[in-house]
Amino acid sequence: MDKKIIMKILANDGISESGVTLLESAGFNVSTDKIDQDNLIDAINDQKIEVILVRSATKVRKDIIDSCPNLKIIGRGGVGMDNIDVDYAKEKGIQVINTPAASSQSVAELVMAQLFNISRSVYDSNRKMPSSTNGDFKTLKKKYAKGVELRGKTIGIIGFGRIGQNTARYALGCGMKVIASDPFIDKVNIDIEINNQPLIVNIPTITFDEVLANADFISLHVPMPSDGKALIGEDEFNKMKDGIRIVNAARGGVIDEDALIKALNNGKVAAAALDVFVGEPSPRTDLINHDKISITPHIGAATIEAQNRIGTELADKIISFYKK
Ligand SMILES: NC(=O)c1ccc[n+]([C@@H]2O[C@H](COP(=O)([O-])OP(=O)(O)OC[C@H]3O[C@@H](n4cnc5c(N)ncnc54)[C@H](O)[C@@H]3O)[C@@H](O)[C@H]2O)c1
Repeated sequence: MDKKIIMKILANDGISESGVTLLESAGFNVSTDKIDQDNLIDAINDQKIEVILVRSATKVRKDIIDSCPNLKIIGRGGVGMDNIDVDYAKEKGIQVINTPAASSQSVAELVMAQLFNISRSVYDSNRKMPSSTNGDFKTLKKKYAKGVELRGKTIGIIGFGRIGQNTARYALGCGMKVIASDPFIDKVNIDIEINNQPLIVNIPTITFDEVLANADFISLHVPMPSDGKALIGEDEFNKMKDGIRIVNAARGGVIDEDALIKALNNGKVAAAALDVFVGEPSPRTDLINHDKISITPHIGAATIEAQNRIGTELADKIISFYKK
């Protein structure tokens, strides 16, 4: 890149300091001032922005691509590109980059946190304890008396890609049996290092229905199906064991939210944990107030480590693009 030209990058949903530092030392000017979706086109054109970086909040659709002819790179910090018209951007000669592997470990750790959480109703206890009187304390103690252990239980992982495999690694470490389904993967060797001793666990995938029927816990790690239909609905809940516990840190629409509430209310599902919702950032209130659902606001990748990896990976890709 010509050092005299200061190229402006808009990181509209933020970027780590490490990413900013790398970009600035390569001569770029990075703005993290959030611009409303409605004002984005004007801002990109007025400020002569060639690179826009987003996470999941900002949408880069056809309207922006058509109206901002100077745009050269659209970068997504993370995996899912459902907020970007990727094919259309590529048709128009715009480079679309993302950081698919940078957050896998962090998402898997959130899933593990939620597995421990929903096996002991930690979330509901946290909600109710502050307002407890002595009487309530005993009632709550009784209410949460039927926790379950993870060790020895079977976790069914649906979608055995990057995050699914990272989750398997942690679940194996907790003494869980791991089963998995993925139409594009036959088997996976999960490598675990314990106290410098390597251990390889081979996990062949089985069918979706076999996972539904045999799991005590289910964790979803698939992309949103292209037909927009939920992968888990009433029929799928009916195929699961009674008292199943389920975690969704993939995409909101992967579980049919009506069917989930019904299955929680009739006892089929003992508890659920959701990091993702239909209609983000305004999830439905009956879902987020349900006492059998533990909720987090789409924070799977929200660790310092993952954000640093995302920021530096994006920066490296932008710098090498302009070096060509
Ligand atoms: N909560 C968060 O903050 C967060 C962060 C990163 C990623 N995600 C989401 O996690 C999901 C998985 O990400 P990843 O990086 O592991 O993706 P990946 O591409 O590595 O793995 C996804 C796997 O799902 C499989 N798959 C597709 N359809 C399936 C089906 N019907 N049944 C079973 N398997 C199926 C694919 O073959 C693939 O192996 C994505 O939806 C992504 O958007 C969420």
